[in-house]
Amino acid sequence: MNEVQIIGTGSYAPLNIMTNHQLSELVDTSDEWIVSMTGIKERHISQGENTSDLATKAALEALKDANVKAEDIDLIIVASTSPDQFVPATACLVQGNIGAVNAMAFDVSAACTGFIFALNIAIQFLKTGERTRALIIGAEVLSKIVDWTDRNTCILFGDGAGAAILEAGTKKGIISINSASQGQKARFLTCPTVDVKNTFAKGNKDFKSTISMDGKEIFKFAVKIIASSINRILKENNYTLDDIKYVVCHQANARIIDLVVRRLKADKNKFFVNLERYGNTSAASIAIAMDEMNKKKLLKAGDKIILVGFGGGLTYGASLIEWTINK
Ligand code: ACO
Repeated sequence: MNEVQIIGTGSYAPLNIMTNHQLSELVDTSDEWIVSMTGIKERHISQGENTSDLATKAALEALKDANVKAEDIDLIIVASTSPDQFVPATACLVQGNIGAVNAMAFDVSAACTGFIFALNIAIQFLKTGERTRALIIGAEVLSKIVDWTDRNTCILFGDGAGAAILEAGTKKGIISINSASQGQKARFLTCPTVDVKNTFAKGNKDFKSTISMDGKEIFKFAVKIIASSINRILKENNYTLDDIKYVVCHQANARIIDLVVRRLKADKNKFFVNLERYGNTSAASIAIAMDEMNKKKLLKAGDKIILVGFGGGLTYGASLIEWTINK
């Protein structure tokens, strides 16, 4: 069996920034409420770029960072809740855009845990030797599926993409990964596609293809599952939090991360947070955060990090990684 390491990262977010103040002109909210309840100050909102456009820009950055040519990639996985189209997969659009002519390309749908799921799947292909070099991307244009009249949800989300290049070899980078789903809780976070309307089915007049969420249920689930996922991956690998340089949680809400820190009696500075500038970018958030850490040179080869996600499905997952990029 091969080992797998991350050899490059990239990210991209639309240039247009929407502040909490701008949101308060759309719905009955305020900067004070949003900051105190979520930690979010602003988010990037697309002015027309679609998910594959964002994903392509993040992918090109990651290829450059890894010093790898597009034709050397043989697997592309895009995780997204907001794909461009039903068909083709956003991963195929990215493949066409970057010229990764030798890749198999497909999408995964695991909401905010999507990047961890994509990582988990890619690792299996690389470990077995079936593929050699994977491009995995979390990309979202959530602004197209947000109900801009619903103050419970529209204040939370932002658009963006993050990417990583993985390579099979002898050096151990990904120490451990696990992911799981709890479909019995699916109703807590939904975004329908199209209604069933045909000769036999009349369809539903109130049908809306926008995100709806039971915020309190998701909040409770998130705090519990992040804390238990971190504990589990540490225990399974005989590590403690002292061995970990950074924990990168899905960037949904600063209060969720604060409660996890308290529950684990952890050092808050170990938990990387950039949600104040991006909002919740779902499948992209962990990848964007990891790329920011890489760009800011916060990590050096040998550092251990934990990525941990949760989201619609409901889904969750965590990965323990030894950083192998030397800058
Ligand atoms: N501005 C001002 N007031 C608001 C707003 C707003 N944007 N939204 C709600 N309120 C009001 C409510 O109407 C309510 O008022 P009331 O007491 O008069 O009825 C009060 O604020 C409290 O609202 P709650 O919804 O009960 O607030 P809660 O403490 O649950 O916080 C929040 C809401 C921030 C959304 C929280 O539930 C949360 O962060 N949940 C997790 C959400 C999350 O992480 N989702 C992403 C999941 S990942 C994925 O897969 C996409």
